[in-house]
Amino acid sequence: MSETTEGPEDRGPEDRGPEDRGPEDRGPAIAASTLVIIPTYDERENLPRIVARVHAALPTTHVLVVDDGSPDGTGDIADRLAAESSGRIAVLHRTEKNGLGAAYIEGFRWGLDRGYAVLVEMDADGSHSPEQLHRLLEQIEAGADLVIGSRYVPGGSVVNWPKRREVLSRGGNIYSRLALGVKIKDITGGYRAYRRAALESLDLGAIESHGYCFQVDLAWRLIQGGAAVVEVPITFTEREIGESKMSGSIVREALVKVTAWGFRNRVQKLRALTAGTKVRA
Ligand code: GDD
Ligand code: MN
Repeated sequence: MSETTEGPEDRGPEDRGPEDRGPEDRGPAIAASTLVIIPTYDERENLPRIVARVHAALPTTHVLVVDDGSPDGTGDIADRLAAESSGRIAVLHRTEKNGLGAAYIEGFRWGLDRGYAVLVEMDADGSHSPEQLHRLLEQIEAGADLVIGSRYVPGGSVVNWPKRREVLSRGGNIYSRLALGVKIKDITGGYRAYRRAALESLDLGAIESHGYCFQVDLAWRLIQGGAAVVEVPITFTEREIGESKMSGSIVREALVKVTAWGFRNRVQKLRALTAGTKVRA
């Protein structure tokens, strides 16, 4: 699934000349039933740029901004963009900063209620390139339930990250792989596409992860339910404007939760094993 295996028919919109297709049907067909959810907290300069890039890459895709009452006025900017968007942009305003997980869950509910076939997670700060979104959508079209844009598969990369941030991310992924016994290389990654049925199979109200471990939580629930999870390479570029909301408490929540999920999983497996032995004995 790396770039080199893509044939000429699979070229993305950034590679297509204007003669190839009209502006309204660029990218995979499913782009027209896709909702890109962008959570925002203090992203006033980034938001207009990212939304413009999404629509330049995939003109028929809809965008939902979920703003947690940003003090810098991002919510007002989102409203203005929506008013000028002829229905392609919508905004949800939440009253306080309540974490990435809660913002996405509200966004998923909104999108599921409105019948979208695919729900995408994308950061507002430009780290997730809209020009690569077609890669994720193509895998949904090929049958995947969850596609993770991955920094750590061949062809994936990280640009401009401070060393300590890369160590934290790689460490978090290695720890999650070991604790949960999964093969995914970038289970903490936040650039994703979900098939609607995958989200419908989950009890969204039962998800308590607030911070970035929300990403691990959802992937882990889907893997346990037997979903088809696929990684495609992406280029993650560190933001140039504004600040990351990553914090010590977000890291602690992830460590505690991932450890607990892994432990619970091992106990369950052990129980199943001993129950089986007793039956056989
Ligand atoms: N509504 C809302 N509420 N949005 C939030 C909140 C919140 O509490 N916290 C963060 N965001 C928004 C930011 O405004 C941004 O659009 C996006 O969520 C990601 O936040 P960043 O602060 O830029 O995240 P990051 O770059 O440190 O982390 C990224 O990489 C992680 C993996 O290493 C994200 O993609 C994470 O999801 C991912 O786990
Ligand atoms: Mn970021």
